[in-house]
Amino acid sequence: MKFLKNYEIFVFILTTCFIFISCNTAKKKHNFSNSIITPGAVWRDNNGNQIQAHGGGVIKLDDTYYWFGEYRAKDDNPLYRYVGCYSSKDLIHWTFRKKIQFSAPDGFNPKTWVLERPKVFYNAKTRNYVMYFHLDDNHYRKAEVGVAVSDSVDGTYQFVRHFRPLGKESRDIGQFIDDDGSAYLIFESRPSGGFFIAKLSDDYLNVDKQVSFIKEPLEGGALVHYKGLYYVMGSHLSGWRANPNVYATSKSIEGPWSTFKNIAPPDSNTYGAQSTMLLKIVGSKKTSVIFMADIWKPKNLWDSRYLWMPLQIGDGNMWLPEPKPWTLNVQTGEYTFLDQGQAKN
Ligand code: GAL
Repeated sequence: MKFLKNYEIFVFILTTCFIFISCNTAKKKHNFSNSIITPGAVWRDNNGNQIQAHGGGVIKLDDTYYWFGEYRAKDDNPLYRYVGCYSSKDLIHWTFRKKIQFSAPDGFNPKTWVLERPKVFYNAKTRNYVMYFHLDDNHYRKAEVGVAVSDSVDGTYQFVRHFRPLGKESRDIGQFIDDDGSAYLIFESRPSGGFFIAKLSDDYLNVDKQVSFIKEPLEGGALVHYKGLYYVMGSHLSGWRANPNVYATSKSIEGPWSTFKNIAPPDSNTYGAQSTMLLKIVGSKKTSVIFMADIWKPKNLWDSRYLWMPLQIGDGNMWLPEPKPWTLNVQTGEYTFLDQGQAKN
């Protein structure tokens, strides 16, 4: 009898411990703090590796987001350039999909060629995924775009051609897909003293037609269509060093564009970041626009960070709040800023 009682006590303690441990594990798994975007922090993929998608862009296919960008790991083979591809359902947790490898095209020095700011468009007619990137030599004198095509989003991208869009020098590129599905390439052109918004051809393999030329020397160009207005933005030309990013608006993608204004206090230099894309999330309750930017670390490009923040936007105004941790519900489109205490990942 005595033995039985001890045994029962033992089982009781064991069960209690079990319940306690499983509750805590469950809590950890669904912990709010695991669903946080912390601007400037190391952002890790599902394998625990630092996400390599610099100067990148995000596209949505069905219910999945894909993030492409420059993959610049420390141990990369210097003869290749790489594009990182990641997927996510919530824009917070990213699954590594592929490190896409490219060799130097003919006429480019394999050791020194440059592939920057890759962006992928899905062409519903050809069912091809078409990647554009800034293709250059190490002195940035070629000023071209490269185009690569794949029949699946994280498949084998075959390099198909390189050229100067509209015959113009082209350095930083940006991507814009309008609400009607039309696809545009934004590109900065130094001799023209500004940047172009150009429509892609039907098969997306060419840059067809100039839609707008904005005579303002800006790069890192990005565009969003929000409540009847187009908001275009970019950074000044200061290389890897951050500067005050600016925006302008227009009722039509063809312009005329308003004068440019700062998106953040100018002395913050956009909090050390440079624009790469404006990402619109159309949710059931709210449409939010996320400022996607890079905090470059030129001496350790692999360790460059991301600054993603929801923008205050509307009625012709756009403002980047001071970066702080936040979370997002892609279904409703709502975001919440978190105080630092909650933000430890
Ligand atoms: C920046 C540009 C980057 C990279 C860098 C090189 O202005 O946005 O993509 O080209 O210059 O200095």
